[in-house]
Amino acid sequence: MAKPAPRPAKKLKILFAASEAHPLIKTGGLGDVAGALPAALHNLRQDVRLILPAYRAAMLGIGNLKIVSLSLQTDPYPLRLLEGKLPGSGVRVWLVDAPHYFDRDGNPYTGADGHDWPDNAARFATFARAVSAVALDQAGLRWRPDVVHCNDWQTGLVPALLSLEPARPATVFTIHNLAYQGIFPAADYRSLGLPPQLWAMDGLEFYGQASYIKGGLNYADMLNTVSPTYAEEIRTPAFGCQLDGLLRARAARLTGILNGADYAEWDPATDPHLPQHYSANALQGKAANKSALQQELGLPRAAEVPLIGFVGRLVEQKGVDLLLTILPQLLQQEVQVVILGSGNKAFETALAALAVHYPQRCHVKIGFSEALAHRIEAGADLFLMPSRYEPCGLNQIYSLRYGTLPLVRRTGGLADTVQDWSEGTDRATGFVFDEATPRALLDTLLRALKLYGSDRRGWRRVMANAMARDYSWQQSAKAYLELYRLAITHAGAGKAP
Ligand code: ADP
Ligand code: GLC
Repeated sequence: MAKPAPRPAKKLKILFAASEAHPLIKTGGLGDVAGALPAALHNLRQDVRLILPAYRAAMLGIGNLKIVSLSLQTDPYPLRLLEGKLPGSGVRVWLVDAPHYFDRDGNPYTGADGHDWPDNAARFATFARAVSAVALDQAGLRWRPDVVHCNDWQTGLVPALLSLEPARPATVFTIHNLAYQGIFPAADYRSLGLPPQLWAMDGLEFYGQASYIKGGLNYADMLNTVSPTYAEEIRTPAFGCQLDGLLRARAARLTGILNGADYAEWDPATDPHLPQHYSANALQGKAANKSALQQELGLPRAAEVPLIGFVGRLVEQKGVDLLLTILPQLLQQEVQVVILGSGNKAFETALAALAVHYPQRCHVKIGFSEALAHRIEAGADLFLMPSRYEPCGLNQIYSLRYGTLPLVRRTGGLADTVQDWSEGTDRATGFVFDEATPRALLDTLLRALKLYGSDRRGWRRVMANAMARDYSWQQSAKAYLELYRLAITHAGAGKAP
């Protein structure tokens, strides 16, 4: 007799809270994840709603918004909830409209001078209070989630606030980057009227200040980070940002789930930003992208000269100092280098100066350009990510699909996604180095350039391996569903160990 088919698991109601989501607003990989993971969960037929601050860019990006709630009693100023759809997917989006906090131009976290907005403590406390009210069905939406999925410090207060509620949904907190913690003076905490009972060492207090990320780390039912290796690393003092003790204590509730890539956005066969499409079976288009990129950047159109790309936030995490140290030596070689990024002003200035010095070999673009980032992925031969630490990293995953061999340091998600050339032609997908030193980076670059120059067939084999890798969201989204179910099991069983 045939076995009865297993009963399909119950559809989950998921409230996904984040401070950025592509294509509405993005400063880095969190934006990519918060745009793609809810869509992947939606495709798995889950009832997922995305909640974001109503930044000016987000409101303009959705366009067709309707007011769905005027009854958020969470702030001295009136708050509204606006509803629309995430462009390109069927995911419903709620925007927390607090114009005095969010209806501003520019970056979600910093002003035009590059410094954090001075009222960030209040902005993200208001956002967290609104998310908590929606989670408790106190916003008049007649929808109650089974689980609230919070991301990074901007949403850290949500699990903390919800922990005070007897009938609350389960909570999951994802660490995308442990180094950004949302630390504010104790006086801010008091003036914002945040609950005094959460002010404790195993609560939100951190060396006399308020730590928003500790709200997520201490109170969420389940924790995860965005790669298995980073989930291990953050339990050690070297990567733990002074929170490794806490994370060791909660190790039983902490897992690593590798980010996926959204191949609807990042596939050279369909990418609308590219002058010509290509794929593993039709590679000619890649050369056309290289040539077009060289022309766009004002570099000589030389097919045989290796083109090396870097796209990212110009901060210490990304190993920009290592790159700056080796660039003068690297640029003595017959190479071309293109760098797109913004961040630390000293790094910006030093990189721009190098480009002035080597106009035929080095192009530096300071700023943020989604379109140019795609064209660099397609046009370059080699993609650099010499990160000192990297929770997951998405650009190396995109590089694999674009046949642009990633050269990475063996850390976090980079270690989990790139196999070094020395592992043999059946497995290798790029180049990996260990020590965070300029010497190790340069040696590995020279090793890569040697292969490019002397064994083009070997290079193409690595390209073929890289392009065959599949990091689509489907698998990771299923892993998140498992995590949500675990969180639901643990919720209500008292404060987690
Ligand atoms: P992180 O989140 O630490 O910044 P990731 O590799 O996970 O690093 O993701 C970075 C994302 O942000 C990628 O989609 C990358 O292309 C994009 N990005 C970073 N800097 C820029 C920039 N200056 N212009 C365009 N896209 C950028
Ligand atoms: C963070 C990390 C990055 C990760 C991204 C998305 O910004 O720095 O490694 O890929 O979040 O999870």
